[in-house]
Amino acid sequence: MPTAVRIRRTGGPEVMELAEVEVGDPGPGELLVDVAAAGVNYIDTYHRSGLYPLELPVSLGQEGAGTVAAVGEGVTEFKPGDRVAWQSQHGSYATQVRVRARVAVPVPDGVSDEVAAAVLLQGGTAHYLTRSTYEVKAGDDVLVHAAAGGTGLLLTQLIKAHGDRVIGTVSTEEKAKLAREAGADDVIRYDQVDFAEETRKLTGGEGVAVVYDGVGKNTFDGSLASLRVRGTLVLFGASSGPVPPVDPMALSRAGSVFLTRPTGVHYHRTREELTWRASEVFQSVVDGSLKIRIGHRYPLAEAGQAHEDLHARRTSGKILLIP
Ligand SMILES: NC(=O)c1ccc[n+]([C@@H]2O[C@H](COP(=O)([O-])OP(=O)(O)OC[C@H]3O[C@@H](n4cnc5c(N)ncnc54)[C@H](OP(=O)(O)O)[C@@H]3O)[C@@H](O)[C@H]2O)c1
Repeated sequence: MPTAVRIRRTGGPEVMELAEVEVGDPGPGELLVDVAAAGVNYIDTYHRSGLYPLELPVSLGQEGAGTVAAVGEGVTEFKPGDRVAWQSQHGSYATQVRVRARVAVPVPDGVSDEVAAAVLLQGGTAHYLTRSTYEVKAGDDVLVHAAAGGTGLLLTQLIKAHGDRVIGTVSTEEKAKLAREAGADDVIRYDQVDFAEETRKLTGGEGVAVVYDGVGKNTFDGSLASLRVRGTLVLFGASSGPVPPVDPMALSRAGSVFLTRPTGVHYHRTREELTWRASEVFQSVVDGSLKIRIGHRYPLAEAGQAHEDLHARRTSGKILLIP
């Protein structure tokens, strides 16, 4: 019988339980996949805590990679034995899961199952944030928060690939080293110093063209204060908690800046968009220009510990659950 990490009520990591689940045959347009690795993403903690409400009970996890065991009616793109990766599929913290074929992509040779599970969601995110939400340009100074995190390390590398300057924020010396290895030109210990002041100093008083802020509540005001006139604040997450309502005049006072709160689904609107982003990300992995750091692996039964470590800022790079 397949097992999955399930919640019956929302709350802290203790509400997660490993349970035997009925997966059933794949329905029309679906794949049944034997999961090799499941990616842990911050959004999973919002589903668990109830910040993003889901109908309960529900199996957690959005992302993974594995081998197709069976395909449902109408599936032509995949067949049993194919290696696939997917995102936006509930129940991915599991030994087996039914995946909608339209959210799955083939995993190319040269990319392991673990790396595929590690890069699809956060890599696709870093891709859309730097290519579509705000297209980073040569000469831009860019501030990336939590630069040693799963998304942060990928953002840093993708921005550097365009030749731009990255200033990263981190909370430990070990994370500072990882951010530098990923290409950050300057690293600020935002747990120790005022990062907005430091960013102004590093940019000769000008401020940065864009801030990528997945931290939210604790960084939002400082992020606004770090921007140059007509800069862009890309608020893409809330690892420190949600940002309270914003007075539009605050954007004016900050220098007529732009604020956007993007979400993945609006940047993966079609199958073409998903496969475009995934194939570019996988290609960068294959050609060695994008390095994937899998910082932590846990068995499925320790998914609660993975969430605790993520909350406690003990992780860097990608966290995987290995069934
Ligand atoms: N909008 C989208 O499409 C999208 C997609 C993927 C991810 N995201 C968002 O991106 C953010 C990063 O996600 P991720 O999965 O890559 O996680 P992550 O960056 O690997 O982990 C979160 C990091 O946030 C930093 N942080 C700062 N204050 C924190 C606090 N009070 N509690 C916990 N962490 C804190 C920590 O880094 P330091 O120790 O260096 O401070 C921590 O390691 C999340 O907000 C997530 O929701 C959004």
